Amino acid sequence: MDASPDITLVQHRVLTAEREAAHGHQGGVVWLTGLSGAGKSTLAFALEEGLFRRGMSAYALDGDNLRHGLNSDLGFSHADRSENIRRVGHVAALFADAGLVCICAFISPYRADRAAVGEAARGRFHEVYVRADLATCERRDPKGLYKKARAGAVHNFTAISDVYEPPEHPALVVDTTAASVEDSLRVLMDYVEAKFAVGANQSG
Ligand code: ADX
Repeated sequence: MDASPDITLVQHRVLTAEREAAHGHQGGVVWLTGLSGAGKSTLAFALEEGLFRRGMSAYALDGDNLRHGLNSDLGFSHADRSENIRRVGHVAALFADAGLVCICAFISPYRADRAAVGEAARGRFHEVYVRADLATCERRDPKGLYKKARAGAVHNFTAISDVYEPPEHPALVVDTTAASVEDSLRVLMDYVEAKFAVGANQSG
């Protein structure tokens, strides 16, 4: 939906370069997409901590957490999931503007929604596919939701009774089927440290 014609954009007076100098790195969005149980939240919070301990400004937004507050009015229909990702995408783009590494962990099953987040973040968007096959996710089943979905007690469950559209050209693939959390984390840390360095080309 377009904004009302009666609304005008107001310019910030702090320059992006000034923010980068203060944080010591660029801002941007690291978007983790994948099935429930693939390891998105685990990696998002480990990455947040790892970057923070190295002096970087990072913050993780997670689907389960945001659905307790900002998105507590949303369920798991196609329209609600799209709205979930739309809102989070704009919040993440604001974090990126503020100069932070905003790590987002959302199933975000639809390609079109993820593409819209990429547009909101304007060249500071990194789609990371946290991949694990369904059998592995179902075996892990950390919240017992696959079991409930198989029993019909949870509806529209991603990869069981709803679709998941994998990224076609992700910036990075982290396959957690066999890799340890430490190994996956190292790959993510290296990626972020290289891409978010001051002067680095994020979209290159
Ligand atoms: S998204 O599809 O809209 O991106 P989001 O990442 O916010 O989903 O939330 C996913 C989390 O909600 C899962 O990790 C799981 O704990 C919980 N959940 C509850 N119902 C469902 C469902 N029907 N499908 C997927 N996840 C669900």
